[in-house]
Amino acid sequence: MNSSPVKIGLLGLGTVGAGTVNVLARNQDEIQRRAGRAIQCAKACVQDVSKPRGCDLSAVQLTTNVHDILDDPEIGVVVELIGGEATAREWVLRAIRNKKHVVTANKALIAKHGQEIFSEANKAGVMVAFEAAVAGGIPIIKTLREGLAGNRVSRVTGIINGTCNFILTEMREKGRDFTDVLQEAQQLGYAEADPTFDIEGVDAAHKLTILAAIAFGMPLLFDSVYTEGVSTVTAEDVANAESLGYRIKHLGIASQTEKGVELRVHPALVPKQRLLASVEGVMNAVEIQADAVGEALFYGPGAGADPTASAVVADIVDVVRQLTADPENRVPHLAFQPDNLNHPAIVPMEEIETAYYVYCLVSDQPGVLADITAIFAAHKISISAIEQHHAAGVQSQVPLMLLTKTTKESNLQGALKEMADLESVKGKVKRIRVELEH
Ligand code: HSE
Repeated sequence: MNSSPVKIGLLGLGTVGAGTVNVLARNQDEIQRRAGRAIQCAKACVQDVSKPRGCDLSAVQLTTNVHDILDDPEIGVVVELIGGEATAREWVLRAIRNKKHVVTANKALIAKHGQEIFSEANKAGVMVAFEAAVAGGIPIIKTLREGLAGNRVSRVTGIINGTCNFILTEMREKGRDFTDVLQEAQQLGYAEADPTFDIEGVDAAHKLTILAAIAFGMPLLFDSVYTEGVSTVTAEDVANAESLGYRIKHLGIASQTEKGVELRVHPALVPKQRLLASVEGVMNAVEIQADAVGEALFYGPGAGADPTASAVVADIVDVVRQLTADPENRVPHLAFQPDNLNHPAIVPMEEIETAYYVYCLVSDQPGVLADITAIFAAHKISISAIEQHHAAGVQSQVPLMLLTKTTKESNLQGALKEMADLESVKGKVKRIRVELEH
């Protein structure tokens, strides 16, 4: 049995890269006992070798030339932590063609180019591991791919962007300003290099794409995910949700329905008594509904140096353990055998069915509520709660909020359009979906 250390090369040494070096060093004995071989972080490719990194690099050779790693026959595992798509794809494919195993935390890469990468990896007989791409430190890929392999999964509902959850929590608990909290999330290393990916839901859509593929045995369909972020959620929405008995969470939902698979990412009001509503700050949670296990919830930190490094290092250990296994006997990248994927219909957003919170400003005059409720009735939408608040003093406009029962999205769109045309309705009519029990 080979007892020499396995040499790894890091591409990128930012928050997660430094965390990975630290975790590998701190836990090296435990890691070696688990992997069966020592793991040596031999090289790291960076843009600026003089930049402080927050980790001990005395045993790591820094280079600005990626080929020092990709073309070094001594490097057995390449750990891609640069993020982004084009360069990461090019480097990962080169590593694979050079017969190196790859560990990556790059959700954009897997969600958009996973099929190509896995196919190349299968041809080259190497592994590509990506646990850190989804839900930070929660081992949700392994759980879905292996722990729940006996189930038919019907629904995955997740809080899968730590930055969004951190922002919504700080807004609710401390009344903090959105931009101010986002800046803190960036300083804490939670946010993406381009934080619009977080707040506009793109990061969560990447992760949902991966979860859905693994849960349902379908291809990675990033372009089919309906994506809405949290940038339009106001402090008032957060407070209104609270007063109605809900918390606003940014959710990724992948659901098998009679019409096909729903893939959607958007803010939603979650009833306070539901466990997902209690997931606060940078924590993530993924709720799985499946026929055998029933309902299971996985909770843990969704971003940050050490939690993400926890997943990266677990993947490195997994790769090292399987170095001598026949490629055919490895767990398939997307849980199902690649020639055995389903190609389900994706349900268009107009066809999904859910409940809604609706908010707008209305003139404070007789008949306004009657007009609005008549519109909802005409669109076959049942209202479950309605509140009109009066601020102190003389007001010509007052806030109105209502909750609907479950209805088709197209029915709601029709009602909101008619509502916005009413003279008594002022400004934009806002809606946020409500995630009831399933
Ligand atoms: N920006 C991501 C988040 C990092 O906030 O969840 C972890 O993928």
